[in-house]
Amino acid sequence: MIDQAGGLAVSDLAVRFGGVSALGGVSFEVRPGTITSVIGPNGAGKTTAFNAITGYLRPTRGEIVWEGAALTGLRPSAIAARGIVRTFQKTSVFPSLSVTDNVLVGLHLRGTAGFLDVLLGRRRLAVEEAALARDADALIDFVGLGHRRRETASALPYGEQRLVELAVALAARPRLLLLDEPGAGMSGAEKAVVSGLIRKIREQGVTVLLVEHDMRLVMGVSDTVIVLNHGRVIAEGAPAAVQAHPEVIRAYLGTAG
Ligand SMILES: Nc1ncnc2c1ncn2[C@@H]1O[C@H](COP(=O)(O)OP(=O)(O)OP(=O)(O)O)[C@@H](O)[C@H]1O
Ligand SMILES: [Mg+2]
Repeated sequence: MIDQAGGLAVSDLAVRFGGVSALGGVSFEVRPGTITSVIGPNGAGKTTAFNAITGYLRPTRGEIVWEGAALTGLRPSAIAARGIVRTFQKTSVFPSLSVTDNVLVGLHLRGTAGFLDVLLGRRRLAVEEAALARDADALIDFVGLGHRRRETASALPYGEQRLVELAVALAARPRLLLLDEPGAGMSGAEKAVVSGLIRKIREQGVTVLLVEHDMRLVMGVSDTVIVLNHGRVIAEGAPAAVQAHPEVIRAYLGTAG
């Protein structure tokens, strides 16, 4: 199952930064069409794992297999072309562009009209532009920002900028979507919106890997929770079981040796 469409297997993933071991040989699986969360204290290695999976850094050791094929050594663009799309822990919208133009940039990255279309006349391009504009509208409506389309991204409240980022990520048509702290800086109401969106994304058949500190959000949406501490997996399972795990409680209370 893990080798099928939408399945990810990480085995013995290790990342060192000079003398610091950020990940010390981490293994886990993400089943197709599920929401799997990676939690753990600050510095546990969560973002490092995302960076390795998406090709932003080269692991010291280990293998990442997506839909049965190894991703090892591929560049971020090649990994994105295989349907793996991420958001960043810090917001990464184009601040001076409108909400619509931010999403259009995302859509153009997957567009098919190329240089040849321009040479052969603009008609095919115009048809595609109209389709992209419709797609952008639909994505903006999906994240609930229909009333913000024409506004400049930087003028939006922080939580709404994060929703723009989510729409841009979805524009790339991910089969695996990695979200790094989508709830950070959001109000409780905005986090509830994000929870609903993550569930809807799963309903559309997208596999979701989530890093998030808000336990209510995590426990509410996750099929499986993986707990990292000091670069190692200390627990893994259904949300309720993980929450009750003694080692997890110790790690969060900071009394673990
Ligand atoms: N580029 C880097 N160079 C050196 N050390 C790094 C680098 N990136 C991360 N680290 C270190 O690796 C460890 C894991 O960091 P990482 O960012 O993956 O943690 P995290 O679990 O995402 O934490 P947070 O919850 O605070 O985002 C930390 O000790 C961090 O200081
Ligand atoms: Mg992080």
